[in-house]
Order: sequence, then structure tokens, then C-alpha cells
Amino acid sequence: MSSLKDNINPDKLPKHVAIIMDGNGRWAKQKGKHRIFGHKNGVTSVREAAEAAAELGISYLTLYAFSTENWSRPKTEVNALMSLLLQTIKDEVVTMNNNNIRLNAIGDLENLPPRNYKHLLKAIEQTSKNDRMTLTLALSYSSRWEILQAVRQIGEKVKNGSLRPEEIDQQVFEKHLTTNNIPDPELLIRTSGEYRISNFMLWQIAYSELYFSPKFWPDFRKEDLYEAILDYQCRERRFGKTSEQILKK
Ligand code: FPP
Repeated sequence: MSSLKDNINPDKLPKHVAIIMDGNGRWAKQKGKHRIFGHKNGVTSVREAAEAAAELGISYLTLYAFSTENWSRPKTEVNALMSLLLQTIKDEVVTMNNNNIRLNAIGDLENLPPRNYKHLLKAIEQTSKNDRMTLTLALSYSSRWEILQAVRQIGEKVKNGSLRPEEIDQQVFEKHLTTNNIPDPELLIRTSGEYRISNFMLWQIAYSELYFSPKFWPDFRKEDLYEAILDYQCRERRFGKTSEQILKK
């Protein structure tokens, strides 16, 4: 059976794909199960997306796994999600090392339960030499939090005289974001048929192509990622210029 993968142009791949994984709760509810059942099945989709991205040669994959706002969910769901994250991170270190994948994380990580924080840092350290693909988990992350913490750091530097206000440009600002070591995503995918950004990488997605999949996250498979990339490859990215200017290059 031919796969959509065969139609992907390897010379026009996005370097960085970011995904808002959504719909775990609704997927479970449709099946008459508890929301946590949806999250557990979402782990399979995480594996599929990571494997497909690495096989294609994508350098950065970022997954929105837990938002700052998610802390307000019922305590039982937050605890179950944290346990699932901890278990998955512990279980997947070997696979990441076997596949040369580096784990990275963005967000207010110190706000995570101490066990999660400790094991996350350990897994990041254990995979730090890998260079095929960087898998970034956004955990306790929100873009407004990230922008505010950057503004605070910059404010401190101005206050102590190590930075002058006129030196603050886009590059300086970006250095203070938690994504300072990864490029902006060219493609942002959101699943579950919702058309929202939900406080995710607001600065970084200024020129990203947006792709919305109707599938709930636990149903997301490699072919769905291929479909999103094929759609991306048909788009003309103009960055504010005209079509003629882009074609002339
Ligand atoms: C969104 O669905 C999903 C989440 C808030 C959590 C994502 C977590 C996983 C896929 C589990 C493990 C992840 C990793 C990276 C190991 P939702 O609960 O908002 O669904 P709903 O919109 O249908 O309620």
C-alpha cells in the first residue's frame, strides 16, 4: 500500500513542527470512559508522531503536553496526568537514546511535582548528546508566562546596567524566551477540530503555517502527520512579501 509519506518532498520539510495535542477527554467520553483513559491512549500518538517526525528527518518536534491553565483541572486529573508523564518519560529514555532523540522541555518546570522535575532533568541529561531530533515537551507552559518572565529578566538587566533599552531588539528578546535554543516552528498542528492557539508559542508562531486536524489526539497516527506536512508543502510562505517577490528568488 502506498503511503502519503512517498509524496513528501524531503527538500521542503519544515525544520520544526509543533503540535497542540487536543481531544483526549472527548475521545474517552465518546467511548464512555474516564478522561484519563484518553490521556493514556494519547501516549501512543506521542510515540507515533515522534517516530514519524524522526524518520522523515524533522529536526525539532514540540508537543504542548500541559499548559499553565491545565493546573486548574480537577486534582485527580492533574495527578493522573503527572503520573502518566513521569512514567512515560522514565519508560521512553531508552527508546530516545536508541533513536538518537534529544529530550528538551519548556515551561515553568520548577512548578512541576518534585519527582517529575527530577526525572525530567535526568532524562534531558541522559539524552543530551543525541542529535537526530530534539523532542521538546511544553510542560506547565503558557506563552504569556514565558513572555512575562522574559520581560522580567530584561528589566533586571536594564536595572543593573548590563543592558541598555535601545539594545532590546527581536534577537535580544528571543534569547530570554524558553525556546532560545530552538528555531521558530514553520508548521503548527492542532488536533480535535478546535481552531485556537490556547496560549502556545505566541511569539514563535508569528509566521508559522497553521494546520487543524479534525481527529482527536488519541486517533492521531503517522499518516495524519504526513497529511499535515503535505498540506504545508503546498503553501506559499510569503513573510509579508508579494507572490512575485517570492517566485523570483
Ligand atoms: C488535551 O486533551 C491533552 C492534554 C491536556 C494532555 C496531553 C497529554 C498526553 C497526550 C499524555 C502524555 C504526554 C506525553 C508528552 C508523554 P484534553 O484533555 O484537553 O481533551 P478535551 O479537549 O477533549 O477535554
